Amino acid sequence: MTPGENKDRTFADVAAGLDMPLQEAMLTQRAVRRVLPDPVDDDIVLRCIELALKAPTGSNGQNWEFVVVKDRAVKEKLGSQYARAWKLYGGLGRAYATRKRPEMEKVLRAVEWQVENFADIPVLVVCCLRGNKLPLVPLPPIAESSYYGSIYPSVQNLLLAARGMGLGASLITLPLWSTTAARSILHLPLSVNPCCIVPLGWPRGRYGSTTRKPVRDVTHLDRYGNRAWRE
Ligand SMILES: Cc1cc2nc3c(=O)[nH]c(=O)nc-3n(C[C@H](O)[C@H](O)[C@H](O)COP(=O)(O)O)c2cc1C
Repeated sequence: MTPGENKDRTFADVAAGLDMPLQEAMLTQRAVRRVLPDPVDDDIVLRCIELALKAPTGSNGQNWEFVVVKDRAVKEKLGSQYARAWKLYGGLGRAYATRKRPEMEKVLRAVEWQVENFADIPVLVVCCLRGNKLPLVPLPPIAESSYYGSIYPSVQNLLLAARGMGLGASLITLPLWSTTAARSILHLPLSVNPCCIVPLGWPRGRYGSTTRKPVRDVTHLDRYGNRAWRE
């Protein structure tokens, strides 16, 4: 897309994209990090979140909270957290990509773009969960899994809704590496945990297909290791 191209599109035009076939949405949803600075209508963002809320949560607790960030000063603060984390993580990622996975270079460049242009991204949706993550009594690991399992289905819905409406979106966590800093930037009470951010904007490029492992390589029958469907 080019700057300003979305200016005259009404909410109804954009929302019509949600009627896209489910399989097409799933096959073409991917991390789109390079987006235009053009504004995204609040109605569009709210519709994405409304559809996110159709996801399941543990005990139907619906203990999610979504902070929509549009204020440049707040985006800058989160952006500097992202840059700090990226300095370390990006360095490690680059060293690894150079040696083992040269195809990651393209992804690293896209992340770098996102880090450098973070404050220009029109909308950040910070996805949070209410409630204490780890009570004082020891609990099995599944408790933590159930806790975070209450946000990620909604995040996937959000990503698919964004895809349907033609928005570029990605799921990111690095800007939240310091929960304390994130809490202070977003004025989150101690009872609310930031889990991930979905930056949203009109894409600079196009959605494309993703590269994933073959289903038969990661699927086991009855017991781990019995890859019965592998050719
Ligand atoms: C838990 C989680 C955390 C992630 N954190 C980041 C992040 O901080 N920055 C980023 O650019 N991408 C992040 N990603 C996006 C992944 O890199 C991306 O989903 C993956 O490379 C697949 O991209 P594709 O769908 O375009 O193939 C994260 C994804 C997940 C699931």
